[in-house]
Amino acid sequence: MIRFIDELELDGKRVFLRVDFNVPLDDKLEITDDNRIRAALPTIRYAVENGARLIVASHLGRPKGKKVPEFSLAPVAERLALLLDQDVTMAPDCIGHEVEKMAKDLGSGQVMMLENLRFYKGETENDPDFASALSSLCEVYVNDAFAVSHRAHASVVGVPERVSICGAGFLMKNEITYFERAMKDPARPFLAILGGAKVSSKLGAIKNIMSKVDSLIIGGAMANTFLLAKGYHVGKSKVEQDLVPTAKEIMAKAQEAGITFLLPTDVVVARDLAPDVPFKQVGVDEVPGDMMILDIGPQTVSRYTDEIKRAQTIVWNGPVGAFEIEPFDRGTVEIAKAIGSSPALSIIGGGDTGAAVKKAGESENVSYISTGGGAFLTLLEGKELPGFRALKQCGGV
Ligand code: 3PG
Repeated sequence: MIRFIDELELDGKRVFLRVDFNVPLDDKLEITDDNRIRAALPTIRYAVENGARLIVASHLGRPKGKKVPEFSLAPVAERLALLLDQDVTMAPDCIGHEVEKMAKDLGSGQVMMLENLRFYKGETENDPDFASALSSLCEVYVNDAFAVSHRAHASVVGVPERVSICGAGFLMKNEITYFERAMKDPARPFLAILGGAKVSSKLGAIKNIMSKVDSLIIGGAMANTFLLAKGYHVGKSKVEQDLVPTAKEIMAKAQEAGITFLLPTDVVVARDLAPDVPFKQVGVDEVPGDMMILDIGPQTVSRYTDEIKRAQTIVWNGPVGAFEIEPFDRGTVEIAKAIGSSPALSIIGGGDTGAAVKKAGESENVSYISTGGGAFLTLLEGKELPGFRALKQCGGV
């Protein structure tokens, strides 16, 4: 059983709070999207109000075990202080004597932020010495880092193994609650929309979700492989030729199971994936040999929208077109709008999909936008996240 932070005694305790503040920074090292910081605020505020001596820990980017100044969490600590309206002391490192002393000197309700955990290889390698060094900083471990809980890293699994009191934060609780509401006993019809570039990266999710949904929409470049498997010519479109037999098997299984399996019937094509290139809308049976599919067409948008209107539960992961480049974002934006107008329980997963919903101005109109990309996909595959397992087995070492 996972315990939650509001079931733990925090007063006067040094609490190690693993968050995922892996936020995008621009060239000037300014944060361009602080959603992940805001998402952890309820947990941080609760800990502060309940007298925790709070040690906030995160990774940022992939510095591969090196102390790379561009990946310092200092700008993140500053933003956190601003959002919390309270001092946040930035530690010069994440382990070592100085950090230990800073943690010991923390008063109740005070907050410090450790430097990037991935400045040490021990983090991603779940090295026992590194995990012990981190765990020696605290008496209580709390994980609110859903977005990195699919990684068996030291701060996700090694630390909770070495601490006897563990729990999950409120963000984690939200993520679990919404996901389970959709997957365990969904209001029907249950529709999943899976998009993105590669069938190979979504194969596990497609297979798992097929046992649960009534309808499945496939979009994005991965739909091309399915179109190819149906015998269409897809021109220069991205495909995974080796997965054509798998795509055929999936479609046969969907038919056997009576699942409505929707693929594009018309598409937007262009010679290149670039802004302002000439493009046209064609049926999937008329894709020119020198062009590539970059978005779904209007007829497909309308078929998908009808399916969205019928659904009572919707899970969406992955854009249905090359949404990062206009005008190939149109299909994805239309899908986001249709979901925003639906009263169904709608759960959006993956960074790109969340960004699409935001771009469409629908963030407030969907039920839940997950903070996880890889973590959300791992759940869709039906797998338990290492971070969840570690919380259940708290203090196992
Ligand atoms: C993410 O942004 O998905 C998480 O922070 C995990 O980052 P990672 O893919 O570098 O492990």
